[in-house]
Amino acid sequence: MNKRPRRNRKNSAIRAMVEETKLGAENLIYPIFIEDGKSVKSEIKSLPNNFRWSLDTLLPEMENCINLGINSFVLFPAVKEALKDKNASYSYANDNFYLKAIHRIKTEFPQIALMSDVAMDPYSSDGHDGLVKNGLILNDETLPILGQMSLAQAQAGIDILGPSDMMDGRVGFLRELLDQNNYKEVSIMSYTAKYASAFYGPFRDALDSAPKNGDKKTYQMNPANKKEAYIEAQLDIEEGADMIMVKPATCYLDIIHMLKEKFDIPITAYNVSGECAMIYAACEKGWLDYDSSMSEMLLSIRRAGADGILTYFAKDFALLLNK
Ligand code: PBG
Repeated sequence: MNKRPRRNRKNSAIRAMVEETKLGAENLIYPIFIEDGKSVKSEIKSLPNNFRWSLDTLLPEMENCINLGINSFVLFPAVKEALKDKNASYSYANDNFYLKAIHRIKTEFPQIALMSDVAMDPYSSDGHDGLVKNGLILNDETLPILGQMSLAQAQAGIDILGPSDMMDGRVGFLRELLDQNNYKEVSIMSYTAKYASAFYGPFRDALDSAPKNGDKKTYQMNPANKKEAYIEAQLDIEEGADMIMVKPATCYLDIIHMLKEKFDIPITAYNVSGECAMIYAACEKGWLDYDSSMSEMLLSIRRAGADGILTYFAKDFALLLNK
């Protein structure tokens, strides 16, 4: 044998020298749930280790994360049922706590990258990402609502808008609206290939945002489809997206890999709530080791081609790096 691949695995110095994939805290985007109120830190049942925070408890927690090297966050609002309506009008209301939180967070930590969620579901009495009429999710009628929501978030100081609704044409619509209103510096990270997945359950528990009727299959993608992700990516890039996302991540590594190979734009992946919940649950039972299994999951997403990873493991992974 003149070829022995094991020689390159001989000791940790050599293994580190030839390591192909590097994953650091700079690649991670930490999803955080916020609600209105004071002194709130309530654990999400189906997503242990993750909490709904109020702004006062969140700020010191964010500072802890920043000290660990996490500089990117995505913020999701948990809205009281009484404030929800068909038009998601609370999403751009003057006294909206989420918008105030964005402003305050960016004032406290101007150096971070703060990303929002742009979709109707957390604010909608129907629990859908678009406007519902006679049981149908209307596309074009949803766009102006997403527009108002986006302008309000831009005004509050958001760095990156995250349209997660999968309506057609929304990236172009939002880009034009932002530019017209002089928010040329606000970025768009589009949820480009977002699948109608079973893995969003814990997130919907966290926000009480599950659809009241039906499912999301007329706007989120069919898990069986790959070429369709290419079409979605082409459109979002043409329409002016700065980054494109694949969601979920681990069951969709082939999609991440394909988009990375075919397009030059940065690719991100959302390691969604259900994927993280599986690891938490198995570790709670003692069936898997937490540190090594969550690290391997994140590494595989990065190896597939993701530049950035949205993950509930962000803080724990950063803690591990700092050990
Ligand atoms: C809603 C939204 C969802 C997630 C992010 N934004 C849920 C959904 O589409 O129903 C899921 C994230 C996760 O599961 O971690 N627009």
